[in-house]
Amino acid sequence: MTTLPSQAAPAAERPWALQTYRVLAFLFPPLIVVQALLAGEWLAGHDVIRVHETLGGLLAVAALVQIGLAAAAGLRRDVRTRVIAVSVLLFVLIVVQYALGKGGFGSANQARALHLPNGLLVLGLAAYCSTLAENLARRS
Ligand code: HEM
Repeated sequence: MTTLPSQAAPAAERPWALQTYRVLAFLFPPLIVVQALLAGEWLAGHDVIRVHETLGGLLAVAALVQIGLAAAAGLRRDVRTRVIAVSVLLFVLIVVQYALGKGGFGSANQARALHLPNGLLVLGLAAYCSTLAENLARRS
């Protein structure tokens, strides 16, 4: 059986960067669920909104690190653009999420309303990033 050169080539020149990306991406979806849990607990009257805010900030930093790792990994050209693009989009959505959280806090307004569906978008995209990284890591 003939194997195409592009299929045989490893997915990343620097596997450590891809593996670190993969670990971060794997942790992301459960941490977004923790965010939803914390928000629910806050709505139930428990004083945990500062934890939610801090974890949200840490997730933004982690998403920025992911962009750096995606750029540093030396990914094959056919996947590089996609991984960097979804990582940038994830970071942007999390920054928007943070701004919506701050903008909507404590009053009935549109920012507060949009914080919830945007949280679902973040969860979906984070799950996609994780699946993408798992598939790439298996090939390198
Ligand atoms: C990366 C994800 C997230 C970030 C960065 C984030 C960020 C924030 C921030 C900064 C606040 C305002 C806190 C304050 O001013 O003290 C907030 C509030 C809140 N967040 Fe999130 N959040 C995230 C995910 C979620 C998710 C997934 C949910 C639920 C599905 C959620 C529900 C809420 C609720 C209900 C509030 C209170 C809003 C209000 O009372 O006006 N958040 N969030």
